[in-house]
Amino acid sequence: MPETVLLTGGAGYIGSHTYLALVEAGHRVVILDDFSNAQTSVLDRLKLITNREVICERGDVRDRAFLDRVLEEHGITAAVHFAAKKSVGESVDQPLAYMDCNLGGLVALMQAMAAREIFRLVFSSSATVYADPEVVPVPEDVSLGYTNPYGYTKLAGEQIIAQAEAAEPRWKVGVLRYFNPTGAHPSGLIGEDPTGVPANLMPFVARVALGLLPEIQVFGDDYPTPDGTGVRDYIHVSDLAEGHVASLAALGGEVGSHVVNLGTGQGYSVLEMIRAYGKAVGRDLPWKIAPRRPGDIAACYADPTRAEALIGFKAKRGLEEMCASDWHWVQTGLEKK
Ligand code: WQD
Repeated sequence: MPETVLLTGGAGYIGSHTYLALVEAGHRVVILDDFSNAQTSVLDRLKLITNREVICERGDVRDRAFLDRVLEEHGITAAVHFAAKKSVGESVDQPLAYMDCNLGGLVALMQAMAAREIFRLVFSSSATVYADPEVVPVPEDVSLGYTNPYGYTKLAGEQIIAQAEAAEPRWKVGVLRYFNPTGAHPSGLIGEDPTGVPANLMPFVARVALGLLPEIQVFGDDYPTPDGTGVRDYIHVSDLAEGHVASLAALGGEVGSHVVNLGTGQGYSVLEMIRAYGKAVGRDLPWKIAPRRPGDIAACYADPTRAEALIGFKAKRGLEEMCASDWHWVQTGLEKK
C-alpha cells in the first residue's frame, strides 16, 4: 500500500539510495535533511535519476515545531529515520553531541509522529550493537553491547523504541541492523561521499585507486581470520535500500514490528576487498600492513535468515558489483575535493 514517507537524512549515502528504492516501489517521499553531512547537489541528482521533482524540507530533526509542520503539511503516513551522526571516531571525542543528535532526534521524531497517530517507523540501527560477537555468523538474539558512544546511541535507540512500543502497541517499528554498506547506484550519480579523510575501508581504497592517497593501510594482519586481516559483511547499498522497502511493507502487514540484520551472510577480509577493488580498477592497489586500529574486532558477518523469513529480504548484489559500482561513482559522480 503506497505510503507518504518522511525520509530523515534522505540526502545522505544510504538515505539517497533508499529514496530511489522507495520511489521505485511507488511511495511518495519527503526528504528531511539539515545537510550537515550531505551535499545539496544530491537532490539534483535524485531528480535526474527519477525524472521527477524531489520534495525536501531542510531543517533539524530535533526541531519539534519544524517536524509538526512537515508531518502536517505533507500528510506523512510513515517515516524512515536515517538522520544521525555516524562516525565512531568523532563520537569518542563528542559523546554528548552524539546523544543529543542521535537520541534527541529519535525521541523528537517519535513524539511528533505519535501526536499525529503516525505509528509506522523504520529505524537505522547497526551491527555495532553486537559489539564483539561471540558467534559468527551473528543472529539477532545474541547479547548486545557497545564499544563506543556511536554504538551506544544505536543500542539506546533500539531500547527507546522498545519502551515506546510497550507503552503504545500501535507502534509498528522495523529495526534494521546494517552490516557494512558499500557500492553505489549504477548511474554513478550518487554514492559514498565522506567529508574529510575517510574512516571506513572502501572510501579509503577508492581514494588510493584515484591516486589521491599513496597506499591503503591494512589495520593488522594478526587476527584469527583466514588471512589475518579483519573480516566484515559488505552489503551493496542498493540491497540495503531495498531492505528498507521490504521492512516498511512488513509494518503494514501482519508481521508488524521486527528487528533484523541487513547483511549478505558472506564475510570478506580486508585483503580480499582490496583485491576485488583492484579487479574493478584493472590494476593491483598498493597496501601495507599497519598496526591494529583500537576497538576493531576480528570478524563480524550476518546470519541473514530472519530478514528473509520475516520481511522477505535477501541481498542479491555480489562483491564484483559492489566494487564496480563504487569505482564508477568515484570516477564520474564524486565531486573531487
Ligand atoms: C572495515 C575493515 C578495519 C580502514 C564501521 C562502524 C560501523 C558501521 C560500518 C555505521 C576493518 C579495516 C579500515 C582502513 C583497514 N558504521 N580497515 N584500513 O569498522 O567494520 O564498521 O563502519 O553504522 O558502526 O564501526 O568498518 O570500513 O572502518 O573497517 O584495514 O583504512 O577494514 O580494520 O577490519 P567497521 P570499516
